[in-house]
Amino acid sequence: MSSHLKGRSFLAMFDFSSEEIAATLKTAREIKEKPGEFNTVLQGKTLAMIFQKPSLRTRVSFETGMTQLGGHAIYLSPTDISLGKRETTEDIAIVLSRYVDVIMARVFGHDIVVDLAKHATVPVINGLSDFEHPCQIMADFQTIIERKGRLDGLKCCYIGDGNNVAHSLMFGAARVGMNMTVITPKGYEPLEAVTKQASDVGSSTGSTITIANDLSAVEGADVLYTDVWASMGQEDEAAERKHVFAAYRIDAETMKRAKSDATILHCLPAHYGDEIDYDTSRLPNSAIFDQAENRLHAQKALLVHLAG
Ligand code: CP
Ligand code: NVA
Repeated sequence: MSSHLKGRSFLAMFDFSSEEIAATLKTAREIKEKPGEFNTVLQGKTLAMIFQKPSLRTRVSFETGMTQLGGHAIYLSPTDISLGKRETTEDIAIVLSRYVDVIMARVFGHDIVVDLAKHATVPVINGLSDFEHPCQIMADFQTIIERKGRLDGLKCCYIGDGNNVAHSLMFGAARVGMNMTVITPKGYEPLEAVTKQASDVGSSTGSTITIANDLSAVEGADVLYTDVWASMGQEDEAAERKHVFAAYRIDAETMKRAKSDATILHCLPAHYGDEIDYDTSRLPNSAIFDQAENRLHAQKALLVHLAG
């Protein structure tokens, strides 16, 4: 497949234009509908997967995705290459580029994926950094379209920590014309620079970006989204955050404030009883496992566009 995205990296939702997001989502839908038509697209190609943090979905969906596209994936665990300790990010990027066709990395500092992309001669995909989780949001958008038929004009409410997932949702929403309300406890809002940049883009696509501390902002939501209160790397803060975030959750009360057909999303892993309760996560409105499945299709689409 020859795409105008060929050779590009995908480090942040902000990196892709509205058209590029739409093109990726179109391919993701086609791949989901007719996977057999894509099973040789990446024949002979290899993906290197660098992980500084644990993963279920990202690792398995990327690795399975490469197999299904006719290619191969290599898992590099946190201790395999000790990124930045055993060897510099620059040297890793250069060496891997001599072997593989595409690199995916899950890292702590966002500067690491930026550095990898700077020195690699093959595309680099951000499989989650402390700043962004763009692959997740591609899958989320595919899921929202499946449930609601569109993205533009919807009201998506994210409840919880103003973290990497919130940042990517805000950037993505701004690009696709979706209204985004992020509700956090005071002091846990998304980075101001993200809010500003997303709002600026949103003003040209009809998307409003709202930051709130009061749960009444859930009113009229089409989509409700939450994520863990303490992200990977914040384990030391987990106990304090459990206290601070106690009211910032998706449960029966939150559901009453949203539209009756509001779609429930969670990127998983979930801490049931904290940011979402188990019963709410299993309602027919919940699409959390479709989201997880769509990681496979959306990332296959990305791989096809960037490395096909
Ligand atoms: N949602 C997500 O990225 O899951 P993993 O951490 O299991 O990869
Ligand atoms: N915000 C979470 C997302 C996990 C997929 C984290 O970074 O741990």
